[in-house]
Amino acid sequence: MNSTYTTDVDYPTMYFHEQTPILMSMIALLSGQVQNLSASRFTYCDFGCGKGLTLNLLAACNPDGEFYGVDINPSHIASAKELAERTGLTNVTFIEASFDDLKPEDLPELDYAAVTGIYSWLPTGTRTHLVSYIENRLKSSGLCFIHYLSMPGMSTTLVTTALTQLLASQYEGSSPERAVRAVRELDNALGSNPKLAFNQAMPHVRPNLARHLQMDPNYLAHDILNRSQEVMWFHQVARDFSASGMDFIGHARASMNVFGDLYQPALTAPYHKFCEGHEDLILREEILGLLLNLSVRMDIFGKKKNYKEEEIGGGFSNVYFHNLFGEDHVEARKQLKSQISMDLFQPIYDDILEGVARGDVEAGKIYGGCAQKYGGAKTRLALMHLIGGKLITFGRHSISASTAERTLNPSQFDRFMLFDKMDNPRAAPLPSKVMGACVQLSRMERILLAALITDDAREIYALVVKHKITIGKRGGRAIGSYDEFASVLPILVESFREHRLPELLQRGLLN
Ligand SMILES: C[S@@+](CC[C@H](N)C(=O)[O-])C[C@H]1O[C@@H](n2cnc3c(N)ncnc32)[C@H](O)[C@@H]1O
Repeated sequence: MNSTYTTDVDYPTMYFHEQTPILMSMIALLSGQVQNLSASRFTYCDFGCGKGLTLNLLAACNPDGEFYGVDINPSHIASAKELAERTGLTNVTFIEASFDDLKPEDLPELDYAAVTGIYSWLPTGTRTHLVSYIENRLKSSGLCFIHYLSMPGMSTTLVTTALTQLLASQYEGSSPERAVRAVRELDNALGSNPKLAFNQAMPHVRPNLARHLQMDPNYLAHDILNRSQEVMWFHQVARDFSASGMDFIGHARASMNVFGDLYQPALTAPYHKFCEGHEDLILREEILGLLLNLSVRMDIFGKKKNYKEEEIGGGFSNVYFHNLFGEDHVEARKQLKSQISMDLFQPIYDDILEGVARGDVEAGKIYGGCAQKYGGAKTRLALMHLIGGKLITFGRHSISASTAERTLNPSQFDRFMLFDKMDNPRAAPLPSKVMGACVQLSRMERILLAALITDDAREIYALVVKHKITIGKRGGRAIGSYDEFASVLPILVESFREHRLPELLQRGLLN
């Protein structure tokens, strides 16, 4: 391993929803790039896959896709393989290699590439090599997802990174121990006196150090001790990609592609003003990042083409739009009204939302009808607004097919996520073949699903105790004994079974 990258400790397992293939294709299609959203046979590589949680989950959602993961760290590759074996996945292959050593024949031609949590930490030469390698392997309609630390938001961390690394290099111990000690020493040195010249000039640095001290030390070691860490502006990344023949297609998050419309008028006014005088997309993106003080970006790049409008529509066939508010969409739009710059009550939004009000509808039908009436570009923009505003969503298969056929039939992956990964207090993913994506569930929802699966209250209580999960009782008091838990659990489970489970089953979870 001839890299400056931290390899003495594992990187914590994390999940990145935005690198889901169908999401990437939807953004690209709505941005005017021809994509076939329904293609279920595709190739996908995660460069720097870590312990493979995201990659394995994506493989579980897309059983006909062929997934590859590359990582330099043998321990990461071993964990990733173990997870695939344990959860019975057969469509994922892991390759232990440095990006520098990858040869074209190591991977097939790719529909998707993902570079998550690593671009900002690679030496320049490796970065350039990686981008040109991806361009070489990517099909002409292929897409590359890239997640990286960005300016200006990262500037508060950047100020102290070199010093933290200098301090850490003086200490003995593992990378996490040295990282934590270095941050603490720096924090102590700055002290809490706001009148100190440094604290006066940069009041956000100490709170940032405090945030670092709250982090998982393994993450911190990866985050700040890598000597190659480089925080870039968007235009610098765009330049790296365009040097290899790839252009910016859009943000991986739909709402960011319509920032000017989906945020409050007062916030978006300076952006609109800037855009009036500047046509250049890269410059507009930089101003967007500046106004939002972005510290992390998730972009999609590809071999951009100027497609004709009539070439694009076919890409919507055989995927399904679903209205998240059903027939209540008018109320949902009214609630959004005061928070956004645009008018969500124009006829095009009525047409789309009415079209899917009573269940999911093939996206091609919705797009085709509206494109005829309003034009393709306007329809795509309206769809970006509705997806970005979380008024509609989409999936690979129809989700309003009879729920009667959908029964609780958890896979090995579901069991792994519910019984072995309950440590995550935030929302966590469960794979869905229907969506071609994961659905994120709160920890309480996961506890109740686990309870539905085992029917063993003691096993669930053990999870609750192990992960210190607070379950409230009537009157606001937290449950403190197994007996209390066992008396409350059936009530919670029944309510969940009645009110939430049918929707989750419809969305293809646990079956
Ligand atoms: C921050 S982790 C991200 C892991 C995963 N993508 C995620 O999001 O959870 C970056 C990964 O890149 C790997 N890596 C670092 N330098 C590399 C290189 N030169 N070649 C291949 N993998 C590398 C590390 O071992 C690590 O697992």
